[in-house]
Amino acid sequence: MGVLKNVGALVAIGAVLIAIFPPPDVLSGLSSNHDHGPLEIQAIMTAFCLSPIIGTLLGEREGIDTTGGDFKFEEDGDIENDEYAQASIYAILYAMYKNTPNLISPHGKTYQFTFNTWGFAPSPYPEDDPQRHGKAAYAGLVTQPAALEYKKKLGDTPLEIVEIGCGTAAGANLITREVHPTAHYLALDMQQAAINTCNAIHATEDNPGLTCKVVPNGVGNGGNQAPVKDSSIDFVVISETHIADIEIGDLEKEIFTEIRRILKPNGLFLWGNAIPTRVWEQADVELPKLGFELVNNKNHTEGAVIARDEDKERVDMVMDQLLEPYYIMNAPYFGPRCHKVGERLIANFYRHPGTALYLKMVTGYDSYMHQAWRIKK
Ligand SMILES: C[S@@+](CC[C@H](N)C(=O)[O-])C[C@H]1O[C@@H](n2cnc3c(N)ncnc32)[C@H](O)[C@@H]1O
Ligand SMILES: *[C@@H]1O[C@H](CO)[C@@H](O)[C@H](O)[C@H]1NC(C)=O
Repeated sequence: MGVLKNVGALVAIGAVLIAIFPPPDVLSGLSSNHDHGPLEIQAIMTAFCLSPIIGTLLGEREGIDTTGGDFKFEEDGDIENDEYAQASIYAILYAMYKNTPNLISPHGKTYQFTFNTWGFAPSPYPEDDPQRHGKAAYAGLVTQPAALEYKKKLGDTPLEIVEIGCGTAAGANLITREVHPTAHYLALDMQQAAINTCNAIHATEDNPGLTCKVVPNGVGNGGNQAPVKDSSIDFVVISETHIADIEIGDLEKEIFTEIRRILKPNGLFLWGNAIPTRVWEQADVELPKLGFELVNNKNHTEGAVIARDEDKERVDMVMDQLLEPYYIMNAPYFGPRCHKVGERLIANFYRHPGTALYLKMVTGYDSYMHQAWRIKK
């Protein structure tokens, strides 16, 4: 690796890689319909680290808007959602996770990062389980009182579940293996890389209840449907998906309408996320207009802050472990600057203590809620 510490060699390698895989702009131009391989990710990271966006994100130039208030990217990782396509960030994150399958937890356990979930405390799963808060969120969402009553009435008939925005389907995997083991679960995401991971490690032969499918460009986008018949589903799950993180807009209304189409008459829409408190208030007005009524509502914000505190050590380790495989990180000048930006981007995504998104949960600007909605009779 010594030679790679030489900037000249690095730039040359970067140039070759870039010539082979023309890099899109990491913050906006990556495609979710494509699974980026290891060499391609090296090229993308090299281009990203050498690009002027690093200086911009470090506050050396004007040009990036933060989400308002006293937040600054270089200190707390704040960046306005509109500044980048979420899809690009996920494309690279999922590729990075897959590229780093042997993360080490603070308890010395080896694991692959599959939950893209903040989750909350307390968790019923053991303290040395590195993904226990995400597991708590998924298990809690599908065992809300209304969901348990529904399941009881259904008796031996398998639950038909659809998830929109499943990521690698880590939560779906937990549900089909442990929480509702007889369920038929269709897990949907717009990211090809995430669905590939699902098929490789979650929807395996020993877990026949789980199926993962990619929905190119996402459910609801331009009227895109879920590949599911009308009135056929017991539970639709959405957990920590960037729906309604700014407002209940056209996309959200399309998605809710699609959920209504596929739910059975008594079926439940089980929704959990940390989004602005005002958007939850807007949902209380908009979902009833689309024919839903609220049947469970639980505020997990305090537990979500505790989860981020409890998870701090693990996430600190993850950031180093995720960024470590990229040659460009070893380059003088460019490497440390890029590492800092990468760390801040990942930290804010994880609502890591000290970041803007963490502080927003502490102040109650954002709320982590679990809700169950039913179609109004
Ligand atoms: C923060 S990740 C969470 C993934 C998963 N729910 C978890 O907790 O691990 C959000 C996911 O939602 C997906 N997503 C967002 N909007 C979507 C849509 N309209 N249709 C399908 N997937 C969507 C993204 O591709 C991304 O994988
Ligand atoms: C949830 O609880 C937090 C306090 O932990 C509060 O600030 C917030 O307003 C509550 N959100 C909702 C939607 O009730």
